[in-house]
Amino acid sequence: VPTELRLTPAAGRIGAIVHDVKLGADLPAETVAALEAALYEHKVLFFRGQEHLDDAEHEAFARLLGQPVFHPTVPSADGRYIFELDATKGVRANNWHTDVTFVPSYPKASILRALELPPAGGSTVWANTAAAYQDLPEPLKVLAESLRAVHTNDYDYAASLALSPELADNAEIAERFRRVFVSTAFKTEHPLVRVHPVTGEKNLLLGSFVLKIVGVSGKDSRALVELYQRYVERLENTVRWDWQVGDVAIWDNRATQHYAVNDYGDEPRLVRRITLDGDLPVGVDG
Ligand code: SIN
Repeated sequence: VPTELRLTPAAGRIGAIVHDVKLGADLPAETVAALEAALYEHKVLFFRGQEHLDDAEHEAFARLLGQPVFHPTVPSADGRYIFELDATKGVRANNWHTDVTFVPSYPKASILRALELPPAGGSTVWANTAAAYQDLPEPLKVLAESLRAVHTNDYDYAASLALSPELADNAEIAERFRRVFVSTAFKTEHPLVRVHPVTGEKNLLLGSFVLKIVGVSGKDSRALVELYQRYVERLENTVRWDWQVGDVAIWDNRATQHYAVNDYGDEPRLVRRITLDGDLPVGVDG
């Protein structure tokens, strides 16, 4: 296994494909260190041909990069640290988000593997939130650095599921998922600009769990969130991945948002994710 990774860029500003690495618990420490460095540089890493991973090996590999954590509200199957997104059960993450930002120390990274895919569609798009911050005009950077946002699981992920056209006639699934997902309502405040603890880069910290900007009322709060989120979603700051079964994606959850494209109707799509324990976001003032 090489310690010098063979990488090819997947887009101009975010994402790299890692070649010749078989993910698993037995990777040498130097390879793990090289993967971590590549992750911080490229923010999302893609691996083809990892179908040898089962849930146990997925978890064992994840432990090399950090401490897996359970989803705060959705129960895991078999007590494993697996969060399953099964489209046939109504779980489709078709909104821009950073994973689990509604808890104070949200995950630092996520590792997703594709088990079953629709014949067409079902890609995932990631956005570079450090590039988004860099794109801001100076006065908007200054304003962003003074803002904080409230994040909650109390409405949005679930609401967007309930509203997705495919689920319009399957309100029962949506409602069941919503009930589980918001079984405990979390609310937490984060700075709008997060200084990455490893790279030192400033990142816009937003996403669909944002309820409001602290100290700003309804319409104005929404306008501010939209204004900043628009920079995250700029196509120049994104990479789109067309999955094959056996692919793995690992992303820096402190420097990205992502969106699972819901364009495959009733076809099945099954992916499994493990998230790694994170740390409290720190703003520009420490
Ligand atoms: C996620 O939001 O973590 C999953 C993304 C996907 O289903 O591709």
